[in-house]
Amino acid sequence: MTRPASPDQLDAQPAATPHSAGPGDRPAVLVTGANRGIGRAVAEELAADHHLILAGRDADALAALAAALPSAETFVAELTDYEGTAAAVAALELPTGLAGLVHSAGILVNGSVEDLSAAEWERNFAVNVTAVSELTRLLLPALRTARGTVVAVNSGSGFNAKGERGAYSASKFALRAWTDALRQEETGHGVRVSAVHPGRVDTDMQHELRAAESGAYESEKYLRPATVAAAIGFALRAPAEAVVATIDLRPRAIG
Ligand SMILES: NC(=O)c1ccc[n+]([C@@H]2O[C@H](COP(=O)([O-])OP(=O)(O)OC[C@H]3O[C@@H](n4cnc5c(N)ncnc54)[C@H](OP(=O)(O)O)[C@@H]3O)[C@@H](O)[C@H]2O)c1
Repeated sequence: MTRPASPDQLDAQPAATPHSAGPGDRPAVLVTGANRGIGRAVAEELAADHHLILAGRDADALAALAAALPSAETFVAELTDYEGTAAAVAALELPTGLAGLVHSAGILVNGSVEDLSAAEWERNFAVNVTAVSELTRLLLPALRTARGTVVAVNSGSGFNAKGERGAYSASKFALRAWTDALRQEETGHGVRVSAVHPGRVDTDMQHELRAAESGAYESEKYLRPATVAAAIGFALRAPAEAVVATIDLRPRAIG
């Protein structure tokens, strides 16, 4: 676990929102997939005024990222290892609860119904849906304490399905159903739930997708991870009386 470097550094940061504080009186936010892509951009977006709990599998890379941020610690877990994830949650110190939980970890499983095995379907659903629900379940008491916000990074594929992408789309449609159900369930507990649906984003996953599509990689046409992170930041920072239920964010060049 990497803790903030010094109280002086913390004092230099902007004031925290008052309802739920992490170390140094900052609201604590756990971000999955924090090593790369959209998750990393979310960490950078929130770094100035939050305490970050950086979740990922590569302990060294996470520690290096945490050391470069003003207030951050690491949360090392393979999210489909439910016992290991529960142990990592039990080790967290969240005296004033958890102000935010951003689910950015996800995988792209490509292939037709004809080609994909049952094991590939199960891996796809385990990472993109079941692990999201299980981590949220484990953190619900802390989220309720802080009247926190859950943000699920969904996709345009959570609205529209295409051939060869059925498994991924099915998992993102399921994630949309999960998000809507959780929002209803948690309204009475003060926890709000947001879904952010980006179109193509310039990350490693997009490289994988373009390779599967045998298409040119046109990064200038895609959303930047920082743009998606700003939308996620908007959902997390929404005024207390509001919930940003859904953001459908598309690259202008593609529509
Ligand atoms: N890129 C796009 O065009 C796009 C568009 C719409 C939606 N999305 C969604 O946005 C989210 C982030 O995507 P991205 O583009 O940032 O992807 P990415 O660059 O491929 O990064 C995926 C992240 O998920 C983590 N991860 C994957 N499986 C995991 C597991 N079993 N346990 C723990 N962590 C795991 C990876 O950790 P490691 O570093 O350890 O591998 C990595 O940090 C995903 O949910 C994706 O579906 C992406």
